Amino acid sequence: MTPVTAASPPSSASATGRPGAHSPVALPTVTMVGGGQLARMTHQAAIALGQRLRVLAQHPDDPAAQVSPDVVLGSHTDLDALRTAAVGAGALTFDHEHVPTEHLEVLVAEGVNVAPPPHALVLAQDKLAMRLRLAELGVPVPRFAAVRTAAEVRAFGAPLVLKMIRGGYDGRGVWSADDLDTALTVAEPLFAAGTTLLAEAKVPFRRELAAVVARSPYGQGAAWPVVESVQRAGQCAVVIAPAPGLTEELATAAEELALRLAAELGVVGVLAVELFEVAPDPDAPGGLLVNELAMRPHNSGHWGMDGAVTGQFEQHLRAVLDYPLGDTTPLAPVTVMANILGAPQAPAMSLDERLHHLFARMPEAKVHLYGKAERPSRKIGHVNVLGDDVADVRERAERAAHWMAHARWLDGWDGGNGHG
Ligand SMILES: Nc1ncnc2c1ncn2[C@@H]1O[C@H](COP(=O)(O)OP(=O)(O)OP(=O)(O)O)[C@@H](O)[C@H]1O
Ligand SMILES: [Mg+2]
Repeated sequence: MTPVTAASPPSSASATGRPGAHSPVALPTVTMVGGGQLARMTHQAAIALGQRLRVLAQHPDDPAAQVSPDVVLGSHTDLDALRTAAVGAGALTFDHEHVPTEHLEVLVAEGVNVAPPPHALVLAQDKLAMRLRLAELGVPVPRFAAVRTAAEVRAFGAPLVLKMIRGGYDGRGVWSADDLDTALTVAEPLFAAGTTLLAEAKVPFRRELAAVVARSPYGQGAAWPVVESVQRAGQCAVVIAPAPGLTEELATAAEELALRLAAELGVVGVLAVELFEVAPDPDAPGGLLVNELAMRPHNSGHWGMDGAVTGQFEQHLRAVLDYPLGDTTPLAPVTVMANILGAPQAPAMSLDERLHHLFARMPEAKVHLYGKAERPSRKIGHVNVLGDDVADVRERAERAAHWMAHARWLDGWDGGNGHG
């Protein structure tokens, strides 16, 4: 496959080299924009449903491009590449939210089933638009303001969190500052370059939760149990399903909020609502604040691949094609997902050898690798472990993921051979 460049039109090629050559059984093709791990895992679900997942990927070695026989190479900002990728697809959906909505509006006008629709997706792209819309709907959010000058940052006050309005992910484009000097050190060069930032009050949350739901165009909604998501350095590291010790009242409130948002915003597919759980204090009652929205399969739903009757990738495909949604019931009292995050320096032991050792020690660990090169803090895979006891299951999942990233056991185990 030859990468498409700006000079040449995008091309769709099958593994056989014959465009469109595939199974004689005509089940739908779904196009996913972006070739990352979310598309790769959606492809896995598409196989079981007899569907074909076509991906619009930047590079042939992107996680999903490695496994899909139907890859369009091109950029998600190139309207022609998007058009080529959409030809004949039952739905066009997303592995990330960075596609210009003006291109999506064009596709909609040309008859493409864009799911979620651009008017909804924009709220997952633009943190300021999302904050304004949620505030308008009366949904509790942190105090926020758009800031363009040092004076506006000072007027907003510390402690605060500054965010790029568009384009951030995995904590990139998010800066937490306890004082104004720190905030201005970050903000001033960005202001000088003409960037407007989103300022938010730093929420003293008890923990972070996520309510993940799916909605179909027919209007059906389905919610997974609310999960706890543990971030390290602004990045999701661990997800515990269901969120331990969450009161039934808050769990129901979070699920209802996510289902309501999916309906009111017109989301089609998976919607993840990232939440802060705030403890009550003498001045405020506590409860839930919305952090952000993702309209695609999300890291906080990966546990369901092994831990629920229907996982989010299958559910997303069902939703975008308007099938009835699947049962979201968990398969165990507790499932913990731990991300495999690239070590500061990749270990000398190969990933394959690490996997052998992991399986030898922990046959229960369900491993999902994304086909990505190891880089510091990069999400290269995840591990799911199911069980009964939160502390035990979490320890095993984190131990497994840490082993996979670092080739070192957190509990000091040396493989029984004394060599570490
Ligand atoms: N207002 C806030 N108060 C306190 N902490 C915050 C606030 N906003 C964000 N954070 C912390 O920073 C993390 C990343 O922020 P956010 O989710 O907005 O960014 P992101 O990089 O787009 O996220 P993602 O990793 O989901 O792509 C949050 O999960 C949370 O831990
Ligand atoms: Mg986030």
